[in-house]
Amino acid sequence: MQRLGLPHRRGLIAVAALVAGCAVATLVIVIGSRGSTPRFAADVQPIFDGKCISCHPVAYPYLDLRRGKSYADLVRVSAATRPAFERVVPGKPEFSYLLIHPPDPSLRGVLTRDDRETIAAWIKAGAKDD
Ligand code: HEC
Repeated sequence: MQRLGLPHRRGLIAVAALVAGCAVATLVIVIGSRGSTPRFAADVQPIFDGKCISCHPVAYPYLDLRRGKSYADLVRVSAATRPAFERVVPGKPEFSYLLIHPPDPSLRGVLTRDDRETIAAWIKAGAKDD
């Protein structure tokens, strides 16, 4: 019976190592995906699709946020309500009216923190049409 002790313990160590390895791998994947640059079509446009197009352009045609229209209406375009600002200034989220202006005038906070971070990271990386 005692001879079974050692292999059994080895088995436990192997399982523990496997679990630790998986945890590290998961962490690397999570950190890696957070660090990757958001893309316009895959990451930014879905935010507009879900939260913005009921008013833009339906109620407020000066800004069309539908897929296929939004990019041309945002990047390097002056804001209609504050022409001194551009809606998206590539590389400069802090000057982009899309983020400075609370998008919903009812101040319901339609953009979550994650949404804002996604849009800001996309702008910072050059606001590409990708
Ligand atoms: C309930 C309707 C409504 C929804 C939903 C809405 N907006 Fe707006 N948005 C408005 C109105 C009204 C204005 C004009 C406000 C003003 O005069 O400052 C506006 C203005 C803007 C402007 C300034 C445009 C310019 O050129 O002056 C931006 C940018 C904007 N919205 C982005 C968004 C985004 C992004 C979303 C989705 C997250 C969104 N809005 C959702 C009603 C809405």
